[in-house]
Amino acid sequence: MGFYAEQVVPRIVNVACAMGEAGELRRRVCQGLAGEVVEIGFGSGLNIPYYPAAVTRVDAVEPSDVGWKLAGKRLAATPVTVQRAGLDGQSLPFADDGYDSALSTWTLCTIPDAAAALRELRRVLKPGGTLHFVEHGLAPDESVRRWQWRLDPLQQRLFAGCHLTRPIVDMLTTAGFTVTELDVFYEKGAPKTLAADSLGTAVSP
Ligand SMILES: C[S@@+](CC[C@H](N)C(=O)[O-])C[C@H]1O[C@@H](n2cnc3c(N)ncnc32)[C@H](O)[C@@H]1O
Repeated sequence: MGFYAEQVVPRIVNVACAMGEAGELRRRVCQGLAGEVVEIGFGSGLNIPYYPAAVTRVDAVEPSDVGWKLAGKRLAATPVTVQRAGLDGQSLPFADDGYDSALSTWTLCTIPDAAAALRELRRVLKPGGTLHFVEHGLAPDESVRRWQWRLDPLQQRLFAGCHLTRPIVDMLTTAGFTVTELDVFYEKGAPKTLAADSLGTAVSP
C-alpha cells in the first residue's frame, strides 16, 4: 500500500464518515446489537459511542494501523471491551459460531472480496445471529447507476479500493443471510452516486 492509501485515506474517512447524517445512521444500525460482536472494517471506531449497553465485547477487524490509532480516544472513553482481534474480514481468525452479532458500516464497498467477508461473517456468527449493516452501493435508480458505473474506477483510485456499484442486498442473500429489516435511501447532503445506502439487519442461518 502506498503512502496515500495508508496514511491519508484513513484520516479522510475519519472526518468524512462522521459528517451529516452519519451519527444518526450509526445510532440506528447499532440498535439491538448484543453480546459478543464482531465488527469488520472498524476504521477509527466511529461506531463506539453507539454500542448499546447489551454489548459485552467487540472484536474489531481492521487492517489500518492509522485507523486503529485514530480510534484511541473513543476506545479510552467506552465501557465496552474492544480489542483489535483481526486484520482482514476476508479471512477471520475466529472459531465457527462464536458471535451473537456482527456489525459492518460502509465497509463492504472496500473489502476486495466482499463475498468472502460475508461468508466469513456467516461462519463466525451463531445460527440465528444478526448482522447489522449500513452500506453504500448500487443505487435503486437507473440514472444514478449510470453515473456510478462511470465514476467507479476513479472512486477506487481515490478511496483505496472503494466501489460504488456493489449490490449490497443481493450480496447478503447470495451469502445465505436472510434480510429481516431493510431501509434503502439516499443520504441527505451527499452526491447520490456515493450515498445510495442500505441499512438493516440480516440473520445468519
Ligand atoms: C469507508 S471505511 C469505513 C470505516 C468504518 N466502518 C466507519 O464506518 O467509519 C472502510 C474500512 O474498511 C477497511 N478495510 C479495507 N479492507 C479491509 C479488509 N480486507 N478487511 C476488513 N476491513 C477492511 C478500511 O481499512 C476502512 O477502515
